[in-house]
Amino acid sequence: MTPKPATPAQKDRLEDPRPRQPHWKTDFSVDWDATDYVSRREFTRFLGLSSAGLAAGTTLVAVAGSLPRQTPQAPRVRLGRVEDFPPGTSQAFEYPQKGQFSLLVRHDDGTFSAFGQKCPHLGCAVYYAPHSRKLECPCHEGFFNARTGDVISGPPQRGLNRVELELRDGEVWAVGGGGH
Ligand code: FES
Repeated sequence: MTPKPATPAQKDRLEDPRPRQPHWKTDFSVDWDATDYVSRREFTRFLGLSSAGLAAGTTLVAVAGSLPRQTPQAPRVRLGRVEDFPPGTSQAFEYPQKGQFSLLVRHDDGTFSAFGQKCPHLGCAVYYAPHSRKLECPCHEGFFNARTGDVISGPPQRGLNRVELELRDGEVWAVGGGGH
């Protein structure tokens, strides 16, 4: 059998004295010396700049952390006169800010307590159950002490947020706490 004559491309390849290179090298030729030189210098500059940025950021955070913080003043809200709340009842009120609710409870002995109404488990609104004298969460049967806000039973891991009350001149005022 006679061998086929070489194609022009095969002839070129046979006659070209240079070492053969894969296509990707000829298609994407790169001057490695120049590339290495530039990238090394740029990399060094990048390292220097990022180290300086990191040091500046750390200093800023440290300075910001050491500044005295201003705690927002708790609002004072008048809830009503003492006689507006019969013993054994409860009243929801908007506190400490709009859209957040708290619950005022007047106990049988005439004393008051108040708590943020949001259950610390998954956020349902708790209510006062006069028959049990407890605060109850209807979502997963969480029960709280109506005087202390502590968890009695159920899934909540912590108690309710207490609202600070003030009784003055026969009036009940919310003066702090509550919220989520
Ligand atoms: S949200 Fe209150 S017990 Fe789950």
